[in-house]
Amino acid sequence: MTTAQTTELDVQPTPLALLLLGREADPKSERGVECPGDLPSPSDPDLVARARAAKEKLGDKVFVLGHHYQRDEVIQFADVTGDSFKLARDAAARPEAEYIVFCGVHFMAESADILTSDDQKVVLPDLAAGCSMADMATAEQVAECWDVLTEAGIAEQVVPVSYMNSSADIKAFTGKHGGTICTSSNAQRALEWAFEQGEPSATKVLFLPDQHLGRNTAVRDMGMSLDDCVLYNPHKPNGGLTAEQLRNAKMILWRGHCSVHGRFSLDSVNDVRERIPGVNVLVHPECKHEVVSAADYVGSTEYIIKALEAAPAGSKWAIGTELNLVRRLANRFAPEGKEIVFLDKTVCFCSTMNRIDLPHLVWTLESLAEGNLVNRIEVDNETEAFAKLALERMLALP
Ligand code: 13P
Ligand code: SF4
Repeated sequence: MTTAQTTELDVQPTPLALLLLGREADPKSERGVECPGDLPSPSDPDLVARARAAKEKLGDKVFVLGHHYQRDEVIQFADVTGDSFKLARDAAARPEAEYIVFCGVHFMAESADILTSDDQKVVLPDLAAGCSMADMATAEQVAECWDVLTEAGIAEQVVPVSYMNSSADIKAFTGKHGGTICTSSNAQRALEWAFEQGEPSATKVLFLPDQHLGRNTAVRDMGMSLDDCVLYNPHKPNGGLTAEQLRNAKMILWRGHCSVHGRFSLDSVNDVRERIPGVNVLVHPECKHEVVSAADYVGSTEYIIKALEAAPAGSKWAIGTELNLVRRLANRFAPEGKEIVFLDKTVCFCSTMNRIDLPHLVWTLESLAEGNLVNRIEVDNETEAFAKLALERMLALP
């Protein structure tokens, strides 16, 4: 649990409350949303110059991390950009920076705090930048699930594997129960590791909270069948599963998903193939199984960028991931004659990633430059110890 979080966990996940400028509090979320202080006006023509000046004043004291889904206006100030895995590693490799400004979402900033020293302060420019998927697994629900697995007599065979897109509480649960964290770039290695933790034929994985990444990795990458997977619904008694179903499963998938990637459908793939003959369809593994099965390539944001870098001139691509990244890649590679389009016809930004805008970044950097620590993300010691165990298992994966 973080200092920015309330203790009311006995609630069902709800759609994200869009609290303008990140004010007020959202007790139903993995994140806190209070944003003290006054933000500069978005129409201030000097915002870029102000961000530059504040960053220069801070010098080596600040290190700015930017996830690939961030807006262009923000990403221009990132010292390093990356996917969730790269950013976690980069945060851990900067012991000299007093402030880590995380332009991403809440769970990423928590992970950075867990992986950095106690003297380093991790700052999230807008505390309302959470993740609806991470909100779909609360500590109470997951503890209840473990009781269900215990009742079914299988808890000892179960290794939890939690996606990076989860709260620090869920990461701590994972560490406490002998599991590991994974990201979209190492999910297969994490699952292989998990099945090696016990007798492989008897071992089961509880995969949290993204059912799609879990299913896609198990079935597409590791050759399991759809029947090896069951879906645990935290809103139903016993997850909506019988003890026998749980005992027969290899993968127990949590019923969570990404609201952004969930919008891509088989129709999106079929439409784009009809509209653009010869197009390569490249999607993120948070997409539904039917979308991933119909795609030509599947991978994390970092994989998507590398695939497009390596693509020949004249090639055509439809990309199924967040729109800020797809637009940036389309602009970057257009001069090389690579045609890149968004997989779906409708606009698909991640609304919480988009909360980090230039006014929030300027406010954050100027506050830090004036010696005011704002929007610190700090995970409590006990949660941190177990969450770190799980994150370090991930970082040690071969
Ligand atoms: P990656 O950058 O690890 O591919 O994750 C995508 C994502 O949804 C982050 O929230
Ligand atoms: Fe969460 Fe999806 Fe946004 Fe990533 S893209 S932060 S998983 S809602």
